[in-house]
Amino acid sequence: MRVLSLLASCLSVVSAASLAKRAPTPGSLSQVTSFGKAPTNAGFYIYVPKQLAASPGIVVAIHYCTGSASAYFNGSPYKTLAEQYGFIGIYPSSPHSGTCWDVSSKATLTHEGGGDSNTIAQMVRWTIDQYKADTSKVFVTGSSSGAMMTNVMAATYPDLFKAGIAYSGVPAGCFMSAAGGVDAWNNSCANGQSTATPQKWAQVVLDMYPGYNGTRPKMQIYHGSSDGTLRPQNYQETMKQWAGVFGYNYDKPESTKSNDPQSGYTRTVYGPMVEGIYAQGVGHTVPIRGADDMKYFGFA
Ligand SMILES: *[C@@H]1O[C@H](CO)[C@@H](O)[C@H](O)[C@H]1NC(C)=O
Ligand SMILES: *[C@@H]1O[C@H](CO)[C@@H](O)[C@H](O)[C@H]1NC(C)=O
Repeated sequence: MRVLSLLASCLSVVSAASLAKRAPTPGSLSQVTSFGKAPTNAGFYIYVPKQLAASPGIVVAIHYCTGSASAYFNGSPYKTLAEQYGFIGIYPSSPHSGTCWDVSSKATLTHEGGGDSNTIAQMVRWTIDQYKADTSKVFVTGSSSGAMMTNVMAATYPDLFKAGIAYSGVPAGCFMSAAGGVDAWNNSCANGQSTATPQKWAQVVLDMYPGYNGTRPKMQIYHGSSDGTLRPQNYQETMKQWAGVFGYNYDKPESTKSNDPQSGYTRTVYGPMVEGIYAQGVGHTVPIRGADDMKYFGFA
């Protein structure tokens, strides 16, 4: 009897595992273990909603340091929103100790360069292919280290994404390691001492995918004025970067509005493709605004 039930539970584990490999279970966070050529060991977790839209959109949601795919899945609003709007959530999981993302190596800062950014791009391509996703509705977002990676994804794979929202990150390339370190911390950037002109920051982005001349994702950047982990100067530097990439005049934003989207926040629009939201008195990190994200991505 015991042997039989043991055998039965082994079998169910085996079949659950092979099922997970074959097809993620709608309505639960599932791991995809085989998704083409993945250059790093970042884990690929996917949430296919029970109410999957025909030709669904995709939201890649990238966790913070010490976080995980399941922590971000459980702690962010995208799971509920996926059911509401029918999009697929991709939750990458960092392979590094401390679970920050590699936003410092040459590999990750290069289109098809073989770093974590490349592995995440593979997750997106696999999902587009498997679910016949709508390539005009592919988005990326994240918090802290995940926000840094959001900027890196937008810079290295502008061909994949239509919009990005970064909650409390740094400019793409700001963590670049002089020694070529993978997943290296960069004090100068974190402390807000890596400053440059819009043109220089834009060039950092352009150099990540030389020769690319297609469309680029629109960008929305959140940062708190009391961020003691990634100093608030990183907000200015990130705005310079994306304003520079799109050829907007950083010194002459299109509009600046106080108490938008909420009291104490200020929204600055540099042009149709770039806006920043500076959160007065908010530390690291700015809380996710799920309903607003849905509007920005065009689901709502
Ligand atoms: C930190 O990043 C800056 C660019 O933001 C770079 O110039 C510097 O060399 C990096 N520091 C280290 C120790 O790699
Ligand atoms: C854009 O890049 C493609 C591929 O490299 C090239 O064939 C095309 O001529 C370029 N277009 C422009 C306007 O530079």
